[in-house]
Amino acid sequence: MDAYIVKGGAPLKGMVTIGGAKNAALGILAGAIMADSTVSIDNVPNVRDTGVMLQAIEGIGAKVQHVYSNSVQINGTGITNIDVEYDYIRRIRASYYLLGALLGKYHEASVALPGGCAIGSRPIDQHLKGFRALGASVDLDHGMIYAKAEHLHGAHIYFDVVSVGATINLMLAACMADGYTVLENVAKEPHIVDVANFLNAMGADIRGAGTDVIRINGVRRLHGTTYSIIPDQIEAGTFMAGAAITHGDVTVNNVIPKHLECISAKLAEMGCTVIEDDESVRVIGAERLRPANVKTLPYPGFPTDMQPQITVALSLADGSSLVTESIFENRFKYVDELNRMGAHIQVEGNTAYVTGVSQLTGAQLAAPDLRAGAALVMAALSADGFSKIEDIHFIQRGYEDFVGKLRGLGAKIEEVDDDYKERKFKLRYA
Ligand code: EPZ
Repeated sequence: MDAYIVKGGAPLKGMVTIGGAKNAALGILAGAIMADSTVSIDNVPNVRDTGVMLQAIEGIGAKVQHVYSNSVQINGTGITNIDVEYDYIRRIRASYYLLGALLGKYHEASVALPGGCAIGSRPIDQHLKGFRALGASVDLDHGMIYAKAEHLHGAHIYFDVVSVGATINLMLAACMADGYTVLENVAKEPHIVDVANFLNAMGADIRGAGTDVIRINGVRRLHGTTYSIIPDQIEAGTFMAGAAITHGDVTVNNVIPKHLECISAKLAEMGCTVIEDDESVRVIGAERLRPANVKTLPYPGFPTDMQPQITVALSLADGSSLVTESIFENRFKYVDELNRMGAHIQVEGNTAYVTGVSQLTGAQLAAPDLRAGAALVMAALSADGFSKIEDIHFIQRGYEDFVGKLRGLGAKIEEVDDDYKERKFKLRYA
């Protein structure tokens, strides 16, 4: 079983270039099939999730060409099949963006109903409510969603909860519907704006992305385009938190500092020095971090996808902190692993009570999900001694060349797939 082996104690120091935003790429890749000619997309992160999405797109008959490692061309004109197989949804929930894209373009789609995952039950009732409002019939049968519309028309849709997925799926489904659609109480993340900008580059007419209300005038066709995806806010935030956790000095390059403001502000509140430039942010970790309280909220609030990483930093702070997870109902599973490293964290409901300790110790760990896995790696990098992190496939879903980028910052980390390599690593850094 592949794992990361880590020798802790080396501060992360240097520059790291941030890749394209995974959560923008997944909506954009799905939307690309709606064009009536080839779409070229650059700065696509080369991670498992985008790989599965591209397989799902090929699976329904679209042409996918990998131009470079982070550039693809998609041509959806040859789509013959509107059924997205269960295997793709099982591997990544975001395959359900093909539901919005196929319904928007072909007025018909069937996709497996996604299950819950490690962080919560994650229903998609708001997606389905929106599709029905546009005139689609949506039936659930044997774990599949069948959506079909004689005529897709504009609608006024008010989301009961702020949902990234539902916002993106409804922009996809409504952008070619007949007439005017208003989406209210929408998500405002940078990746929402990126998907809207991409659809507009293909000829859609979407306004207001990034605000509480998105207005869409349906268009008859979407044409090919060339588009480059924005940098990944969460990958950048993960490395910024790594500087705080390891008392390091890390500059994240190729970022949009505005997207990182809530993370930068929290790290500064905890005593780090944060220096913003046009396309980079430098974080110099404090000698001893100050405690702070964090509540995850939809953008521009503190991102839930940064909750594990900031909690690791707070576990090393000089005092007590509160972390409240208001987006997902089960996003503290990693705390048990962190406490095995000597952290003092107690979880009651959706709040973690963190009492900072001066040092964590290395341990045998398992990544419970994508972001918690990355956070545990950062914890291991700061801990005393060796750590081994298993189930790294979760981490590889969303972090391109994670080991390479960390080693570039001085980390003692290696991906191993057998005991011999693990022993060799330990001998090298004994
Ligand atoms: C997206 O998930 C991201 N995934 C998640 O990132 C991220 O944590 C989440 O948004 C919140 O920012 C992708 O973009 C691929 P939501 P999504 O719909 O769209 C409830 C990562 O690490 N809800 O905004 O599934 C839901 O249960 C991943 O990259 C409904 O009740 O999240 C949750 O409590 C992890 N009904 C809340 O809304 C619905 O129909 C927010 O979920 C939809 C959502």
